Amino acid sequence: MDPIKRGKLLEQAAAYARAELERDSSGHDWWHIVRVTRTAKRLAAVERADTFICELAALLHDVADEKLNPSKEAGLQKVESWLAEAGTDEADRTHVMDIISTMSYGGGHGQPMRTAEGRIVQDADRLDAIGAIGIARVFAYGGWKGRPMHDPELPVREHMTPEEYRNHPGTAINHFYEKLLKLKDLMNTDAARALAEERHRFMERYLEQFYNEWDAVDGAFD
Ligand code: ADP
Ligand code: NI
Repeated sequence: MDPIKRGKLLEQAAAYARAELERDSSGHDWWHIVRVTRTAKRLAAVERADTFICELAALLHDVADEKLNPSKEAGLQKVESWLAEAGTDEADRTHVMDIISTMSYGGGHGQPMRTAEGRIVQDADRLDAIGAIGIARVFAYGGWKGRPMHDPELPVREHMTPEEYRNHPGTAINHFYEKLLKLKDLMNTDAARALAEERHRFMERYLEQFYNEWDAVDGAFD
């Protein structure tokens, strides 16, 4: 595909993703897509990967999400049809579908991503779940679900029996231990690892301050 066609296709993909995700408040809104796409392009440049594939996959990566579709399969079918109708080359279409169908935290079943571009888009998506933005998203998601932000009487989920786990409301603070603090060690690329280290330290400092304020032991005036 020539560069002009590629540019047009990326513009169309952005408009499509924006229309699909504009009204989402579960953490997959359009600005999440904008940030992931920007980070994926930045990582692709450093890692010398195919920027076009990274950008296209990043733009479309959440359109097939099962939270927004009757099923994950229906969502993937919708994206594949869109790519075909937009005139994407078959090899590119297969590559992008391979990335978006395998990259989610649980959906990939822990299998490593098959291509450099897949590793990059997965890293970019995971980077948006940590750091200052990740903190904002975790509380936004908890609010959307109507869950408490913190409950000091609940044990951390990992230390629960399966029975306790089933009845657990899942606080925003608990989600740090369940997922966010683990993401740093799951980064695929060196560039993402470096960014993740900084974002991870920020979350640790944040939690320390959060607990200090909660217990009224922050600052020093008394
Ligand atoms: P993605 O599809 O981008 O990999 P998810 O759909 O798992 O991520 O989550 C979207 C956002 O919502 C993330 O920022 C994540 O931290 C947050 N989130 C997901 N599950 C929970 C939860 N159980 N409690 C709080 N926040 C959550
Ligand atoms: Ni995402």
